[in-house]
Amino acid sequence: MTADILVAGRMPANVIPQLDQHFHLHVLPTDKASADAMIREVGTRIRGVATNAAQGLPLELLDQLPGLEVVASSGIGTDALNLNAAKARGIHVAVTPDVLTNDVADAGIALMLAVSRKLCMAERNVRAGRWLKGLGLGYRVTGKRLGILGLGRIGRAVAKRAEAFDMSIAYHQRTPNPDVSYRYHDSLLSLAADSDFLMIIVPGGPATDGMVNREVLDALGPDGTLINIGRGATVDEPELIRALAEGRIRGAALDVLANEPHVPEALLTMDNVVLQPHFASGTEECRAEMGQLVVDNLRAHFDGKPLLTPV
Ligand code: DGY
Repeated sequence: MTADILVAGRMPANVIPQLDQHFHLHVLPTDKASADAMIREVGTRIRGVATNAAQGLPLELLDQLPGLEVVASSGIGTDALNLNAAKARGIHVAVTPDVLTNDVADAGIALMLAVSRKLCMAERNVRAGRWLKGLGLGYRVTGKRLGILGLGRIGRAVAKRAEAFDMSIAYHQRTPNPDVSYRYHDSLLSLAADSDFLMIIVPGGPATDGMVNREVLDALGPDGTLINIGRGATVDEPELIRALAEGRIRGAALDVLANEPHVPEALLTMDNVVLQPHFASGTEECRAEMGQLVVDNLRAHFDGKPLLTPV
């Protein structure tokens, strides 16, 4: 019997046409009233969900899908997937690791260069006919110290790229990684004090929420720059805004924010900030590979096979 699948979040373009061929597909409308009506109608029949790491799977929705067997999420983060509740119900969960590693690492390096070399501000100047007016100078990346919070797959890919910039690389995470030669710090505070650029790559969740606090920002200091390609909640955003406004850190490049898609007004006015709409994996190639994994995981499950990339 063909399974009923709910598409509960934005999907790469190759997902829906393929799922449509193999399943009974229900695409959750974006307005709440229509979404509620759809769930009332089909909720009990849904056996699989396709979603993404940013929109996740809210508990409220999970509770209305009593027959759910499998969730395939496009993305690597699990902080929005209510993993514990899903696992407690025996629901299988798949994410899309590896295929996004290189593109997200590229984005981390791009953000570091963009904020230090004032790329966005300079571009705004040219478009507004101001040329060099008020631009000042950027600051150097080559040879500087890069601190990485979270040396997982993406962290390592960032470090590999940073080596080409002759950067001196250090990292912090719960335990040191025996097979790398980068400097290990057993606290984020000491990593921040040892960094010109501090890049956040941890996946998010209660253990890391608010970890980049006032103390850490002050340790990074007035010559330091924060780059966040992990999760917005890892950074105490009001403290970050204060540190930027008071020049207690030099700049920030943020792919992620605490309450997306809300952007704090203050950040919009700051020239020492580069902002992106949670876009680090946003290449055609990467999204196509992520989408394919979503499809392949759902198909594997309903063909009675193990998930390709389970959490
Ligand atoms: C991820 O894969 O977790 C990205 O941050 C997109 O949400």
